[in-house]
Parts: sequence; C-alpha cells; structure tokens
Amino acid sequence: MYNYATLDHIAKIGTDLFSTDYRRVEEVERADAILVRSSKMHEMAFSDQLLAIARAGAGVNNIPLDRCAQEGIVVFNTPGANANAVKELVIAGMLLASRDIVGGIDWVKANAADPDIGKAAEKVKKQFAGRELTGKKLGVIGLGAIGQRVANTALHLGMNVLGYDPYISVGAAWNLSRNVQHVSNVEEIYRNCDYITLHVPALDSTKGMISKAAVQQMKEGAVILNFARDLLVNEEALLNGIDAGRIRAYVTDFANPTVAGAQGVIVTPHLGASTAEAEDNCAIMAVEEIRNYIENGNIINS
Ligand code: MLT
Repeated sequence: MYNYATLDHIAKIGTDLFSTDYRRVEEVERADAILVRSSKMHEMAFSDQLLAIARAGAGVNNIPLDRCAQEGIVVFNTPGANANAVKELVIAGMLLASRDIVGGIDWVKANAADPDIGKAAEKVKKQFAGRELTGKKLGVIGLGAIGQRVANTALHLGMNVLGYDPYISVGAAWNLSRNVQHVSNVEEIYRNCDYITLHVPALDSTKGMISKAAVQQMKEGAVILNFARDLLVNEEALLNGIDAGRIRAYVTDFANPTVAGAQGVIVTPHLGASTAEAEDNCAIMAVEEIRNYIENGNIINS
C-alpha cells in the first residue's frame, strides 16, 4: 500500500485514477508520492520513504530539485498537457494588445443606461481603434510544446512567424510548420518582430533575458507576451520601454506589484493553464507518471 499526498486542487480527477493499492493521506510527511501544482515545496519536510513528486504543469521551479536529487526522489512534470490552454491565452493576449476590446466593453457597461447608446457608440468607436495581427511578425522564443502551438496557430491568423530555439528537438521541428522561419540569433527576433512571445523555462541562462539592452533593440510598437515565467523579464526595463513609447504593450500572466497597475500592461492572474481540460490532462499525466514509476520502474518526463 502506497501513501500519496496531493497539494492544490489538481487531484480531483487524478486521485480517481489511483487503484486501491494507493491511499490518500493529508500529511506530505507521510507520503510515498506527492502530486503538486503551484505550492512552493522548498521548505516542506518529506518522509524518508518519498519516491516521487509529480508536478501538474511544465515548470518545476516550485520544487527543491537539488534536495530531490540528493535524496533520490524522482521529479516529474507534465509537458504539453496544458499547452493548448496556454496557447489560446497567448493568442487572446495578442488580440487584447491589438484591439481595445477591454476599453470598448468598459465603455458599453458605463453607458448601458443611455437610451441612445447605439448612436453614441458610433461616435466613440474611433477612440478604440486598433491594429490587425494579419501580416505582422511574431517572434516565438522557445519552441517546446507551447511555442510550437502558438507558432502554428499564428500562421493560421496570417502572421509571419520567426522561431528561436537553440535546443529544438527533432519532435518539435517535426510538429512545426515549414513556414516558421528559424533564426539562430535571438536579437533577430528583438529587431524584427511586432509581437514577441516567451516560451522558455526560468534558468540561469534565461532569467532577465528581456533586459534593458533587449528592449532597446526592439522594434517600435512591439508587444511582449510572457506566459512562461516572470523572472524572464526585467519589468523595470519593459516599463521604461512603454513610457518611452517604444513598446506598445506588455502582456503577462504574472501579477507582480511592479506591473499590476502599470500603464500599457495587460495582466492576468496566472490563468494560462487554468482550463478544465488542461487541469484534467495534467492530473491524469501526473498520476500515470507516478504509477508507472512506482509499479514498473519507468521514468517518463523527469
Ligand atoms: C506550468 O508550469 O505549466 C504552469 O505554471 C501550470 C500552472 O498554472 O499551474
């Protein structure tokens, strides 16, 4: 009999997949396996018998990887399981930064009681004018599961897509349309793209990559989208770019105080993976990984 603990709300569907050989416990300290979504685990005490932690998501920065490596605890993630959900929010973010949808909706709400609202709307619409995605250049930095989907969907919207990924896998290359233009230098993306979207993990090599120097190279009117990790972006540098009129908008899924109320920033509260489908996919994959490891010794996605 194995004990497993669940943190956050990922476990609803996942726990149903465990067999009767597994018992759910409330205390992490008694678990042989842990399912986690966003809880920070660095300070948590683990049991001596802990075998595996499965993160229901792509990033594993809430898990103490060094401690797990030292103690022989296998850490899994669920690559691709929430990729459609994130992709769709990235596309929505591009649209929100291009058309004043929110401004327009707010105006209608504020004027809902006006019996002549239809006429007033015709007069006011000029102030909500936007620009189209069609024909614009999108730069995708990181061509993993999410980056590939964003790139392919953007092509369908009529955008020209540049991709940068020095570590692109054969599988990723296979999944990408041949119409994605690969560049070997990230600066080409900074210099040429109207929209730049980040799909890389937060590593020492990527933290702060959207720096003051990067912003200064960007095309006038560029929109930066960050649904990956907040640490990738020097937020001050980006806000300065917005104030200087160089950057049109920063769209981010990370509600840090620096950007939360700032002009030119569109912020959502880490909603990228928050769809029913993505949550189910991640929970199922996480449970399968743990079972496969505990029962068969197979390690997939660790
Ligand atoms: C991820 O790393 O895939 C996301 O952070 C998942 C989530 O929203 O929990």
